Amino acid sequence: MSANPYESERLLAEYLLFHYGTADEILPATAPAGMRDALDFAVRTTRHFSPGRASRSLDLGCAVGRSTYELSRTSEETIGIDFSQNFVRAATALATGPLPYQRLDEAHRRTPLVASLPPGLPAGQVHFEAGDAMDLRPDLGTFDRVHAANLLCRLTEPQRLLERLPSLVRPGGELVLATPCTWLGEFTPPENWPEDSTRAWLEDALGPDFVQISCTEEAFLIRETARKFQWTASLLTAWRRK
Ligand SMILES: C[S@@+](CC[C@H](N)C(=O)[O-])C[C@H]1O[C@@H](n2cnc3c(N)ncnc32)[C@H](O)[C@@H]1O
Repeated sequence: MSANPYESERLLAEYLLFHYGTADEILPATAPAGMRDALDFAVRTTRHFSPGRASRSLDLGCAVGRSTYELSRTSEETIGIDFSQNFVRAATALATGPLPYQRLDEAHRRTPLVASLPPGLPAGQVHFEAGDAMDLRPDLGTFDRVHAANLLCRLTEPQRLLERLPSLVRPGGELVLATPCTWLGEFTPPENWPEDSTRAWLEDALGPDFVQISCTEEAFLIRETARKFQWTASLLTAWRRK
């Protein structure tokens, strides 16, 4: 397989902007309203957990960590895990201060920007580590909240994560999964894609151990250049462990 794209400086800058950029830094002057509605995805997905406080939360495929930090608002301990060492380094560094990066505008043209945490974050204890969501360390323990946004269709064997989830979420705990269902052979061999809809596949896999609380969509916007954006509707399901 080719080098992991999520270790690249281009995607590091793209994700720092996606997670921490302001509307003015992300949107073009001519942006239609729908683009603005798709901002702050990494914050919105964390709001699908029931209100109240948690003792332990886990963010899988956390990238540069915005959702992990958001989960810490209501959690005593939050762990963020990502396969990209470069992303984990950036997520960790943000706890100690602002992080400069270069936004790609076009060709060689870049704009220097600075990513920083919103005031008050981190709230609870936050820890990031490099790890594989298909082969998580056995001593991770259990969690009141597990969040995995836009991760499943980037795994070679997503079934392995689905099989591990019941032992990660404590009884009564909650799981939030978001997936844009963009199944691509470069990440997941077609034999490991859902046979039919991703929603039905999730219900089959998780139904024995989880009750589905909600199923909705959250749109997101990733700015690739000053003139090119990815707008995607992620399928978001929330579950409670039986
Ligand atoms: C599409 S990004 C989504 C990131 C973030 N959750 C978000 O919604 O912005 C997918 C993330 O999953 C990570 N990833 C890919 N394979 C992984 C694996 N096997 N274990 C953990 N993380 C993985 C990538 O490094 C990347 O940060």
